Amino acid sequence: MNTVHVKASREYDVRIGSGLLTTLGSSIPRKVQKVCIVSETNVWPLYGDAASKSITEAGYEVISFVFPAGEASKCGATYLELVNFLAENRLTRSDLIVALGGGVVGDLTGFAAATFLRGIQFIQVPTTLLAAVDSSVGGKTAIDLPAGKNLCGAFYQPSLVLCDIDTLNTLPEDIFRDGCAEVIKYGVLYDPALFAHLKEHGLSFDREAVITRCVELKRDVVAEDEFDTGARMRLNLGHTIGHGVEARSNFILSHGKSVAIGMAIVVRSASDPATRDAILEVLDIFGLPKDTNCTAEELYTSALSDKKRTGGTVNLIVPRAIGDCAIVPTPVEEVKAFIEKGL
Ligand code: NAD
Ligand code: GLY
Repeated sequence: MNTVHVKASREYDVRIGSGLLTTLGSSIPRKVQKVCIVSETNVWPLYGDAASKSITEAGYEVISFVFPAGEASKCGATYLELVNFLAENRLTRSDLIVALGGGVVGDLTGFAAATFLRGIQFIQVPTTLLAAVDSSVGGKTAIDLPAGKNLCGAFYQPSLVLCDIDTLNTLPEDIFRDGCAEVIKYGVLYDPALFAHLKEHGLSFDREAVITRCVELKRDVVAEDEFDTGARMRLNLGHTIGHGVEARSNFILSHGKSVAIGMAIVVRSASDPATRDAILEVLDIFGLPKDTNCTAEELYTSALSDKKRTGGTVNLIVPRAIGDCAIVPTPVEEVKAFIEKGL
């Protein structure tokens, strides 16, 4: 097992290893009485019993809230159902919530934890690769609104992240591949050695080592810029344009694949040929897409509604070399030509 300590407004450990779900109960602080596990209909049948057993055996009362799997559940209606459930079951501020699932469970549960009783502690138990390397760490929590994804949320750190890599064994390969787009992103942004490992091993990379390295990299970014006003923006590599691809597909194309396409468009538009070709090659090795039928006009319109737009500029993240990416404030009127060049 590896442990990464995150220093943010709340400090916490991220534990990464095999068999960690059985340690969930013993990881809960003694003052807690009641624990609510929040999960969804795909994950709960796989890991609900093991999580509940571990907590019950450690001496805590367990209740569970399970909602339909999928992004459509990361909405106001499920959020209200969840906080009402917590209130009806009289959870107090000294109790605890566990988010057992992928990014959908983690984001929704984190937002409920941030707001119920003005803040109740929660543990992230990520069960997708994307959640393990990205969404469970760093405290971004949110629900979607009809006007767009993640528009209502809070920065609220978990008190522990328990990443049992065995849970990834039941992930359909396609969903595992989605998380790989985020893993590749970390290599491109910060770490040539990680990038080289991914290039060499493809989908059979060393999961414990790679997840740990990604979490270390995210820890460093969060320590520097918890509230996303500067350095954390780099994590947006491929996202500004990728979000447009995702939205235009009505969210049929997954987040990871959309980010891969966004990265490909950016490097074809603005990276030097060696950097561009290295990144496109690794996307190929992982079987991730690089092209879209969307037009520059469509992607430009989406990029303008990006949360990270500041006034008349959009911050595009551009790889200069593997491990070295620049934040390039791009005037709105130049964004369409930038996208067009990379299509
Ligand atoms: P997800 O939670 O929907 O999981 C993807 C699919 O995998 C679902 O069908 C789920 O039921 C299934 N699944 C999960 N774990 C499984 C397992 N162990 N075995 C079998 N099936 C399993 O999606 P995701 O890709 O994990 O996360 C995407 C969400 O994360 C989006 O809502 C996105 O906005 C959010 N996100 C948040 C952050 C952040 O910093 N908070 C970062 C990136 C993404
Ligand atoms: N997933 C992007 C971030 O945490 O900032």
